[in-house]
Amino acid sequence: MDAFQIRGGRALRGEVTISGSKNAALPIMAAALLTREPCVIRRVPNLSDVQFMGDILRSLGAKVEFSGDTVTIEARDIQEFGDYELIRKMRASVCIMGPLLARLRRARVSLPGGCVIGARPIDLHLKGLRMLGAKFNIRGGYVVGSTPALSGAEVFLGGRVGPTVLGTANIMMAATLAQGVTIIESAACEPEVVDLAKFLTSMGARIQGAGSPTLTITGMPELRGAEHDVIPDRIEAATFAIAAAVTKGSLVLKGARADHMGAILDKLREAGVSIRRQGNDLAVERSRRRLRPVDITTQPYAGFPTDVQAQMMVLMLQVPGISVITERIFESRFMHVPELCRLGAQISIEGPSAIVKGGEPLSGAPVMASDLRASAALVLAGLAAEGVTTVKRVYHLDRGYERMDEKLRAVGARIERIPE
Ligand code: EPZ
Repeated sequence: MDAFQIRGGRALRGEVTISGSKNAALPIMAAALLTREPCVIRRVPNLSDVQFMGDILRSLGAKVEFSGDTVTIEARDIQEFGDYELIRKMRASVCIMGPLLARLRRARVSLPGGCVIGARPIDLHLKGLRMLGAKFNIRGGYVVGSTPALSGAEVFLGGRVGPTVLGTANIMMAATLAQGVTIIESAACEPEVVDLAKFLTSMGARIQGAGSPTLTITGMPELRGAEHDVIPDRIEAATFAIAAAVTKGSLVLKGARADHMGAILDKLREAGVSIRRQGNDLAVERSRRRLRPVDITTQPYAGFPTDVQAQMMVLMLQVPGISVITERIFESRFMHVPELCRLGAQISIEGPSAIVKGGEPLSGAPVMASDLRASAALVLAGLAAEGVTTVKRVYHLDRGYERMDEKLRAVGARIERIPE
């Protein structure tokens, strides 16, 4: 297992190229199961989660070839049984269920284990697919689904905390080959869902309302192969924007889509970070002015994304005063808090909220990565802390950030990947 060794205190300056979005690429790769014809997907980030999805599709019988940032997938002859161990390891694999039911009328995926950020059930996925005509039973850790034929239905996908991103993806993909019209109410509006809808449409699917809470999908007899360029990763862009702010540097984020980052940029500006559009890029600079504490509540899109909550907390640690950060999407997404406290942070948890007392300097120490975004927050804290911080188990980071250490080193960070 690798670790990152970081010597903090250096302002980052220069340009960072934002990679394609992991959370768009994964369901789009699964969507290639909906057709026998080859699909070419470009701007796919080189991440372990993406490689996992490739292996899962191969275990179903699809041909998958990566070449640079492009993956070609041909699901000519596939079966519904995938590699249990692989499917169990990555929650996002749940989004092969909709395509398999639509294509083969059968599907078998492992019940996703919980993970460090919460239970993460799939009850809404199953509810939606049942309304399209699927039946499920749970056997030996598998969810086994089957249907004589999928048919359109009105599906309400709102859950305890609001819409479900991958649940929307699953139902939308299944509906593209169902007989008749499907209406999804309380659908997720994330840019990654819009990008998936765009890819499905280029395959011949008929989808209206992508990006709004109501999706209307008219089923087609079959879909064709297509080509697609994945959108840039808004969460990676946010992470590097905050890296510029916490190191008192200035970065140009090449290819960052400001129109996908409204809530993030609003909060960064409220805190006093200067952000300017520069053509298709974003220029982020820690202005001379003192930063101000801001309160954050995570919400479904277009609200402040839960995937940037941990990173924002690190910025607030630099700001004298009290910030309240409330996590409304996942029930336990504060794994980074005890690790940040090891660096001298003063944070207390009150139910769904973290009370952050900022303004105290951080000092480097060994810390342990846990979930993907918590790990990113520890790297940011290491960049800001005095002395050396060692972030262990960086395989969590490699799941969702392409060459993060290389990208940071290229703009001045003193960060090395070392064997743990
Ligand atoms: C997607 O996960 C993202 N992953 C997550 O990013 C992101 O944090 C999350 O959406 C929320 O934005 C991918 O796109 C691969 P949800 P997803 O279903 O779809 C509850 C990262 O760091 N829920 O929108 O699995 C669930 O427990 C990852 O890149 C149900 O109750 O999340 C959670 O509280 C982490 N029943 C809430 O809804 C269900 O059937 C939102 O979950 C499904 C979800």
